[in-house]
Amino acid sequence: MTITAQEPDTEPETTRAASAPDAPSSAAAPQAEAVIDLDAVAHNIRILHDHAGDASVMAVVKADAYSHGAVPVARAALAAGAHELGVATLEEGLELKNAGISAPVLSWLHTADADYAPAIAAGVELGLSSPRHLAAVVAAARRVGETATVTIKIETGLNRNGVSLEEWDDFLVDLARAEAERAIHVKGMFSHLAHADEPHHPVIDDQCERFTRALDDAKRAGLVVEASHLANSAATLTRTDLRFEMVRPGIAIYGLSPVPRMGTFDLRPVMTFRSRVALVKKVAAGEGVSYGHTWIAPHDTTVALLPVGYADGIPRALSGKFEVWLGDDRRPGIGRVSMDQVVVDLGPDGAGVREGDIAVFFGNGEQGVPHAQEWAEALDTIHYEVVTSVRGRTVRTFVGGPDGPS
Ligand SMILES: Cc1ncc(COP(=O)(O)O)c(C=O)c1O
Repeated sequence: MTITAQEPDTEPETTRAASAPDAPSSAAAPQAEAVIDLDAVAHNIRILHDHAGDASVMAVVKADAYSHGAVPVARAALAAGAHELGVATLEEGLELKNAGISAPVLSWLHTADADYAPAIAAGVELGLSSPRHLAAVVAAARRVGETATVTIKIETGLNRNGVSLEEWDDFLVDLARAEAERAIHVKGMFSHLAHADEPHHPVIDDQCERFTRALDDAKRAGLVVEASHLANSAATLTRTDLRFEMVRPGIAIYGLSPVPRMGTFDLRPVMTFRSRVALVKKVAAGEGVSYGHTWIAPHDTTVALLPVGYADGIPRALSGKFEVWLGDDRRPGIGRVSMDQVVVDLGPDGAGVREGDIAVFFGNGEQGVPHAQEWAEALDTIHYEVVTSVRGRTVRTFVGGPDGPS
């Protein structure tokens, strides 16, 4: 998957115009475009900050910032007050460091036989999940001749990565030994919640209790933990008792509510996924549209062809289940979503839509513009998957933000 990340537009009028969902970002807007509003990132970070109180904010920018563009989002988040960055893989951590980002970056998901040396040399902090991971990091730190800064991922009930209970006591001994040798510096401890989007779920309290016990164990083993963190977006916004020294939100940075049934938390969606109309044409009553003719025109009508398909992030399972914002109204997607294109019905008179007009698949959800949550509901998934699926030939256009005009 290649997404061409464009630099922020430096021409003020063009940049401002792009923030309107159906305004072209430039005369020759790409066929499939994800407009990324970096001012919305800043707004969302400020909201998270307000909820975090004295805790610092680690902005989670893994998976290319949930497909919003890791480096520009990271810069915007840091400029708006985030203190640290969190990613899954070593490569994601290195991408941020290679872009010149000096803020702490924690990478937490690796195989024990990964090559940790480049990450240690670049100053990427490492999440550790087992004695095998610790041994590999210690060996790499010795080779590089530098101390690796590590944060321990503790198993508290999610049962994914994290040091398991049966390995915990031995692990603490190994940790203290490696720290004495200065191969590592233990900076933090963290864990991840299984039921954060159900703020009153009893498992949250169980996990918090286990986490607190593990912190006490670490203290008894002589480790000084500066930064412990448990809260993702949902917990940051709904459970201020879980703040510890840092919170670790992801989805809320992108303006999507971590608990949609509780409202928006005043977050602003960052991504607008849109395209230009490639073709407008008449379809006669009784004619079928797209593969398999799953939609037959009930009357003479006009359709618009949008050159974006499942290769770009519109799931085929959404066939017949989505609407776009086009020509000042919602237009239904008709027939099958194919690899490169979808078709929408404009009605008999064509609604004045012309080739080159902008159609919005999802965006801020205001004034009729669809929201990623609508796709999530139609697909029986979560909006996380909707935005991270935007890919393929989609070109990103960044608007606003610390480096560009807003
Ligand atoms: C370990 C960890 N922390 C924090 C987050 C951010 O979670 P969210 O996007 O729900 O805020 C994630 C994302 O899945 C994660 O894996």
